[in-house]
Amino acid sequence: MPKTLKEFIDKVICGDALEVLKEIPDNSVDMGVTSPPYNKGENKKGWLVNRVVYKGATDNLPEEDYQRIQIEVLNELYRIIKPGGSLFYNHKIRWERGVMIHPMDWLRKTKWVIRQEIVWDRMIAANIRGWRFWQVDERIYWLYKPKGKNIIGDELKSRHALLTSIWRFPPENNNPHPAPFPIALPVRAIYSIMDDKKGGIIIDPYCGSGTTLVAAKILGHHYIGIDISPEYVEYSIKRLENYKREIQDVEKELSKHVVRKTFKERKERGEFVGKYRKINPKTTRTLFDK
Ligand SMILES: C[S@@+](CC[C@H](N)C(=O)[O-])C[C@H]1O[C@@H](n2cnc3c(N)ncnc32)[C@H](O)[C@@H]1O
Repeated sequence: MPKTLKEFIDKVICGDALEVLKEIPDNSVDMGVTSPPYNKGENKKGWLVNRVVYKGATDNLPEEDYQRIQIEVLNELYRIIKPGGSLFYNHKIRWERGVMIHPMDWLRKTKWVIRQEIVWDRMIAANIRGWRFWQVDERIYWLYKPKGKNIIGDELKSRHALLTSIWRFPPENNNPHPAPFPIALPVRAIYSIMDDKKGGIIIDPYCGSGTTLVAAKILGHHYIGIDISPEYVEYSIKRLENYKREIQDVEKELSKHVVRKTFKERKERGEFVGKYRKINPKTTRTLFDK
């Protein structure tokens, strides 16, 4: 018998993301925030820190299989998310034997409209080798499910849009999971899309330590979490029980969603408004002037 949405609400389910997603009804979830395993091969190690090894899952598939599964998971998420809904998908650029592997390689093969590529500036990262400049960025793809003929979607409120396409948060340290994102990340995604609405349903099919789920709960929403590792599922459930400890971190992120100055105010004060102004060579000094 097909399952009802009720069976998934406010649950952390232990299982394979693709298999569990297949059981969730169509057009039933408001949005998702997730970070899948990156297929980093488990043999890659930086000079500074230990490699990421998940308990209960391997991260070492042939790249072709990995991308095929990611496309299937993304298309299942597309099916279950409501028209007009969004998915924030965190990933990164990788290299294999010198060849760049970019998340866009498989994202363009999914049903999603790719609404924006956001750069997550972590400011620090584990793997330091001198083959390239130190890669301290990850990416967050804002994926959108069109509603009718509207493939652009609604405008964000200024207090969210002015946070820019570069999100600067340090990685999370205070967490036993090997690769959690900081709670500010799902809070920013959820609050920007849902704004002051409450009671939505937010899914994370690779929920790890439950960061997205705790963010959803504190912001007044329901959650659905999935992870293949029983240990991380158990940890997420405990973390959800103790969610009050994280309210302060959530409030810190919310305090950034304010419009300090409107464009009109900036213009009146002669401050930068992002508008191109023709430079007057008689009055403007350049780098080459003595
Ligand atoms: C990058 S971590 C997610 C971390 C999470 N965002 C957090 O803040 O804790 C990826 C997670 O995917 C889980 N995982 C790996 N393969 C899976 C699969 N096939 N189905 C569901 N979860 C899986 C791992 O156990 C790991 O917890």
